[in-house]
Amino acid sequence: MSLLSASLLDWYDRHARVMPWRTGPQARRDGTRPDPYRVWLSEVMLQQTTVAAVRDYFARFTTLWPTVADLAAAEDGAVMAEWAGLGYYARARNLLKCARAVVADHGGAFPDTREGLLSLPGIGPYTASAIAAIAFDRAETVVDGNVERVMARLHDVHRPLPAAKRELTALAAALTPAARPGDYAQAVMDLGATICTPRSPACGICPWRAPCAARAAGTAPELPKKTPK
Ligand code: ADE
Repeated sequence: MSLLSASLLDWYDRHARVMPWRTGPQARRDGTRPDPYRVWLSEVMLQQTTVAAVRDYFARFTTLWPTVADLAAAEDGAVMAEWAGLGYYARARNLLKCARAVVADHGGAFPDTREGLLSLPGIGPYTASAIAAIAFDRAETVVDGNVERVMARLHDVHRPLPAAKRELTALAAALTPAARPGDYAQAVMDLGATICTPRSPACGICPWRAPCAARAAGTAPELPKKTPK
């Protein structure tokens, strides 16, 4: 593992945000993985919705439907009603389709590879990589807006998004460690959400302040650049 990945994992072990779909520090040390159902549900809810807004919905869903089989057996109307307020209702319809496919085609167990996950309805490249990494510790690279920003700054990439997407994804992939890729994926997202923030990044307390090229160049707050729509 590179020094960069190791220093970020070390930071994550001390500062990981507590979230109901994550395992705690002891489980991470033991190598206990989180429940794929909970990881999947959280990732679908977190698309276009903030962590703060998702918390209560996640708690209600997992109380009402503790397993993917419970969700698959739910009435469509009941699920849609619980989803009310989260928006993007196609996500809720896909949620049900996916739960039912996991039960009907996979015996109630989520596939444990990115390719297997991609075959499920409503699971796209981002979600497949996230579940494979977080729930199954596959060395997949998870790239969301947070990760793009962190990579653009770490490597001082001035090419604007969306043109820079491929380059930023490759930079992120190059850093993904073979050990603990799930924790690593969440560590980069947490870094982007709490320290490497869009405005006024807290470079002084960043675990990557020394190697960060944008910090050295003084360009961090203006990255990533974006092509105007
Ligand atoms: N955003 C989407 N998924 C996340 C996760 N697992 N951890 C932190 N932020 C996220």
